Amino acid sequence: MNLTRTNQTKAAITAVGGYVPETILSNEDLEKMVDTNDAWITSRTGIKERRILKDKATSFLAIEAANDLILKHQVNPESIDLVLVATITPDMPVAATAAYVASSIGANNAFAYDLSAACSGFLYGMSTSAAYINSGRYKKVLLIGADKMSSIVDYTDRTTCIIFGDGAGAVLFEPSSNEHGWEDEYFRSNGNDRMSLRVKAGGSLHPTTRETVENQWHNIEQDGKTVFKYAVTEMAHATEQIIKRNDLKGEDISYLVPHQANKRIVDATAKRIGLKDDQVLMNIAYYGNTTAATIPLLLNDYKSKIKKGDKLIFAAFGGGFTWGAAYLSWAY
Ligand code: UT7
Repeated sequence: MNLTRTNQTKAAITAVGGYVPETILSNEDLEKMVDTNDAWITSRTGIKERRILKDKATSFLAIEAANDLILKHQVNPESIDLVLVATITPDMPVAATAAYVASSIGANNAFAYDLSAACSGFLYGMSTSAAYINSGRYKKVLLIGADKMSSIVDYTDRTTCIIFGDGAGAVLFEPSSNEHGWEDEYFRSNGNDRMSLRVKAGGSLHPTTRETVENQWHNIEQDGKTVFKYAVTEMAHATEQIIKRNDLKGEDISYLVPHQANKRIVDATAKRIGLKDDQVLMNIAYYGNTTAATIPLLLNDYKSKIKKGDKLIFAAFGGGFTWGAAYLSWAY
């Protein structure tokens, strides 16, 4: 079903910020840690290096990204109504990371909560933010995607440690002052395959015990081939649905803004909808897969290129499984 179109206010992204830590973990560094090599990682994933946060937590990444947005766009933090943090690596299992982030950036009039949907977290958070603005309930929603993936990666497992990195990005949603903004979304999930990409322990299914720690059940594990297959099929399908029902053609789309999990997954999606390379935003080579942070980090890296009225198609696939695509026209 298409997004219900009414005379409600349109939600627009009006500001963008981002942050990645300084420490670089390159493919050459990983060659010294596990049995892998730069050629394999580059050809199978498109990743050359990723950033690693030392000694600090996910909130640090989120605060840096939010402050970058606040400073560059001169946003008064006291005017923010809601702070949402999309993450699967909260500072602690209990105590919303978003609340700490909101207090730390001076968003003293905001309420705040975390949103967890793995690699689709930011995309789903965009839908939540847009809905609050569309309804007229709030005027300023700060959405942050932040993950310290290095905190749940086993650096002796070559099938996962080459993929993930740390980072954060932030966007501000406000009522649009023109005709541009959030246009449409197509989201799905399938919990039957949740074990294909998971952190097995630390929740209510397997509370932390000596055994769960010894068995490394607190690290991220995946059946890479299954995830890859689903991601290619579903990201492309969701994107096609959005394009068809909004009567868009390949040449109408300014940019595909895809979750950065694997360059081959993105290439397959872009090919299916007939996009050229210069219509696809990519930065996986420098950051790897930063989970909830990939999409806002793309917006931050390419913000000088994106112009008012540009038609952006977002797409993501992640643990759960969760996935979807969305259409937004850029408002500033
Ligand atoms: O955001 C959602 C989160 N995750 C994803 O989207 C990940 C989706 N999956 C993938 O991106 C890919 O499946 C991987 C990058 C994880 C793996 O790539 P692949 O092309 O599917 O490789 P594979 O698992 O089929 O493994 C091929 C070979 C195997 O060796 P054999 O059995 O053919 O001898 C692996 O043992 O490559 C081997 N291998 C490696 N070799 C060098 C696996 N990992 C590595 C490695 N370095 N790091």
